[in-house]
Amino acid sequence: MSSAEQGVGEILIPEADVRTRVAELGAEISADYAGRDLLLVGVLKGAVFFMADLMRTLSVPCEIDFMAISSYGAATDSSGVVRILKDLDINIAGRNVLVVEDIIDSGLTLSYLMRSLRARKPAALEVCALLTKPERREIEVPVRYVGFEIPNRFVIGYGLDFAERYRNLPYIGVLHPDLVPGATR
Ligand code: XMP
Ligand code: MG
Repeated sequence: MSSAEQGVGEILIPEADVRTRVAELGAEISADYAGRDLLLVGVLKGAVFFMADLMRTLSVPCEIDFMAISSYGAATDSSGVVRILKDLDINIAGRNVLVVEDIIDSGLTLSYLMRSLRARKPAALEVCALLTKPERREIEVPVRYVGFEIPNRFVIGYGLDFAERYRNLPYIGVLHPDLVPGATR
């Protein structure tokens, strides 16, 4: 075990499965957007790893931009009120926008983000999330592309962090039970 892996309880989605699924999503997105160009909007920081790999499987012309957001309220739960820490550089009016997320939990953050983006009149606005925890959903948000549905456990790796660590793991793991602070994030 490398020191980066201390704290991993178990591997939930091995590296090879992540890679295969990312390629499948890329093929599906490339087919759906054939003849159009795409703007991938990544939500910092967790989505960076997924987005970089996904983009390299796309065969349509694409650009990227990023947003950084922070949720108000208790550390363990999304309040649904989101502060934009870094906004997009690009004007998305008339663009085909695909929001790329690492994980959707309650859906409150994404729901707020989608309202903000929709108001800017993109030609198309869809979401691609690597992971979703359906059990935790509090608000319906249409997610067009989903990598994996996972149970309600705190996951780390492939961009996902616990206290900013573990993002560099090439697989999705579950945080060791000894480290779970009774929080869900
Ligand atoms: P909501 O509840 O608004 O929150 O959908 C989504 C955000 O919550 C974080 N999150 C996690 N981060 N492991 C993480 O590292 C997890 O299991 C987890 N569940 C939720 C994440 O920041 C996501 O964007
Ligand atoms: Mg986090």
